[in-house]
Amino acid sequence: MILAPLRGVTIRCFRLTFAREIASAGFTEAVTPFITATPGFDPLRDRELRGGERIMTTPQFISKDPSALRECLERIKGAGYQTADLNAGCPFPMVRNKGRGSGLLKTPETLRRLLSVGCETMGPGRFSLKTRLGVDTPGELLALMPLINEFPLRFLAVHARTARQMYEGDCDLAAFRNVAAASKVPVVYNGDAPLSGAAFEPPVADVMVGRPFVRSLGLRDDSTALLGRYIAATSEELSGDRPVLGRIKELVSYWKDLPPWRRRWSLVKLARSIEELQLAIRD
Ligand SMILES: Cc1cc2nc3c(=O)[nH]c(=O)nc-3n(C[C@H](O)[C@H](O)[C@H](O)COP(=O)(O)O)c2cc1C
Repeated sequence: MILAPLRGVTIRCFRLTFAREIASAGFTEAVTPFITATPGFDPLRDRELRGGERIMTTPQFISKDPSALRECLERIKGAGYQTADLNAGCPFPMVRNKGRGSGLLKTPETLRRLLSVGCETMGPGRFSLKTRLGVDTPGELLALMPLINEFPLRFLAVHARTARQMYEGDCDLAAFRNVAAASKVPVVYNGDAPLSGAAFEPPVADVMVGRPFVRSLGLRDDSTALLGRYIAATSEELSGDRPVLGRIKELVSYWKDLPPWRRRWSLVKLARSIEELQLAIRD
C-alpha cells in the first residue's frame, strides 16, 4: 500500500513519528503532500524533503508550468530522489480554476507537457500521476486515457471521485474500472479503501490509503501515547503554541467521531495552549 498525501496531516513529522505504525499497517511508500513548483523555487527548502525517513518517499508537485516543474525535478533528482508525482487531483476551486491540480484535466495540452517533462527528467517508470475521475463528470479521465497512455508512467493513481464531489459521496467503482481497463500504465486505486487492501476486478497494481489509516490510529489502545509522541515531535519542530495546536487539532479532528475521542475532541478543539491540550487528552 501507498500512504496517500494529506496536506497538513501525512507530513514528514507524522511519517517519522509513526514510522513503525505505518510500516506495520503494510505501507511501503509515501507520497508527500503537494509542493508547489514555481519558477526559481528550490523544493529542497521544503520541510517535506529533509530526508531521514525509512519509508520510500515520493515527492509530489503541483504545477502548470513545465519549466518550473523541470527545475524542481532536477533539483530533487540531484539530491537522490528517484521518483516524483504530479498532482492532477486537487479539487479546490482556487487551485483548479487557475489550471492546477484537477484543473489539469481541463487543459490536456498543459497536462501533456507536464507529463512529458516529468517522464523525461525523472526517466521512464519514475514519474507518476495522481488524479480523479474528472472535474464535473466521472468520464473525463477516461477520455484522456489516450493522452496518458503516451507516457511511460510509474503509475496512475485514481481517487475514484470527481473534483466536484470534493471528499464526500460514494466512490464510483464502475468508472474507475473503465479507466483501469483503458490504462496501459499500472493503476493504483484510491478512495475510502480499507486498510486490509481491497480486492479489485480488474486487479490493480496497488492501493493508496489516507484517511482510513489516520482514523485507525485513533482506535488503537495506545492512541493517547501516540498523540503524546506527536505533540512532542511537533513541539520540537515548530516554535510557539499556536502552530503546534493547529497541527495536533488537525490530526485529532480525524478521530472526533470515534468513541474513545468524541468527548476529548470537544476539549481538544477549545485548547489554547499546549498545557490545555495535554489536559484535554488525559485518560
Ligand atoms: C486534508 C486533505 C489533504 C489532502 N492533500 C492532498 C495532497 O496534498 N495531494 C494529493 O494528491 N491529494 C491530497 N488529498 C487527497 C488524498 O490523497 C486522497 O486522494 C483522498 O483523501 C481519498 O483517499 P482516502 O479515502 O484514502 O483518504 C488530501 C485529502 C485531504 C482530506
